[in-house]
Amino acid sequence: MTTAVPFFDLHRQYESIADEIHAELREVCAKSAFILGEKVTAFESDFAKFTGTRHGVAVNSGTSALHLALRCLNIGPGDEVITVPMTFIATIWGICYAGATPVFVDVEPASRTMDPLKLEAAITPHTKAIIPVHLYGQPANMREILRIADARGIPVIEDAAQAHGASADGRPVGGIGRIGCFSFYPGKNLGAYGEGGALVTNDDAIAARARALRDHGQSQRYQHDEIGYNYRMDGFQGAVLGIKLRRLHNWTRRRRQIATYYHEQFAPLARDGRLEIPVEDEWSRGVYHLYVVLVDKRDAFRERLQSLGVGSALHYPVPVHLQKAVAALGGRRGDHTVSERIAERCVSLPMFPELTDAEVEFVAARVRQALQDAS
Ligand SMILES: Cc1ncc(COP(=O)(O)O)c(C=O)c1O
Repeated sequence: MTTAVPFFDLHRQYESIADEIHAELREVCAKSAFILGEKVTAFESDFAKFTGTRHGVAVNSGTSALHLALRCLNIGPGDEVITVPMTFIATIWGICYAGATPVFVDVEPASRTMDPLKLEAAITPHTKAIIPVHLYGQPANMREILRIADARGIPVIEDAAQAHGASADGRPVGGIGRIGCFSFYPGKNLGAYGEGGALVTNDDAIAARARALRDHGQSQRYQHDEIGYNYRMDGFQGAVLGIKLRRLHNWTRRRRQIATYYHEQFAPLARDGRLEIPVEDEWSRGVYHLYVVLVDKRDAFRERLQSLGVGSALHYPVPVHLQKAVAALGGRRGDHTVSERIAERCVSLPMFPELTDAEVEFVAARVRQALQDAS
């Protein structure tokens, strides 16, 4: 009988692929291919194919990918970049590192991604890029966002850090805008065994520039054309990601299966208004990096859930516009009420491919019980 379900358990996945991982890591060591190298190059090409793009540029984190994306578009001081306040803070770090100013557009309550109806009003003559976030693995409404951006010639950079393999209108996210940025932080749907990230693009010049910028700004050895960074991916991560990418489709299928079960189990509670569940539009295919429900009295609910043996987490309890780090932007409570409401009510339930059916059933039953106890 199941007695407890953790919010997350990376070790189970490792156990399932350990032999292959060890063999590949040994090969990296034998060849001393510690930085970039053939494993990274092979992964870049496989990952570009996976996102339906011509180029993949592997870097050392999703944050670096976002920073390079903005550098490749020559965005800097005096420029504004529009994004959402309901995201992980790293979405705006690239904007800050580039010296540009983040401008926030609230999310939609159903998809929890950028609200295209609010986008137009935020655009000014200084807007130089728009960064929608495919939050929790749910695609943002790219069709509408691109319609608005394209009409004004503003490039769209997708923050697909949480959405490897998600699609909008049948197109893989990351490959829809000018540049797509991914994180391979270990807990992501495609996670490295350390830090990792990538940009994908169909633009040859952007790819070449990103490759140079990640490697000290050199296009040829010891020819430094501009100020660059050490944002290279290491060989171990290339090896691990190559192995894991081949399994991602099956892992995603399992995530979607679990999400379907949760949807079915929680639908009556959602109808009673006791819980809000993720909603997928007909054009949208999410990959459920996280399964986030919204509840009243969130902290009491989580405590009860924990006492019933179910781990949970918060993504994210403070929206970015209310973070101290960006207080200088003058964000105030009430500026972005949908994001603020999500921040106050969100609870992430266990969601990873290695959960057993018994565990998923246990989680659903305990969520029902915790809500009952609270009423
Ligand atoms: C939405 C989002 N953007 C950006 C990042 C940054 O990625 P990294 O942690 O690899 O720098 C993350 C992940 O942490 C994320 O969830």
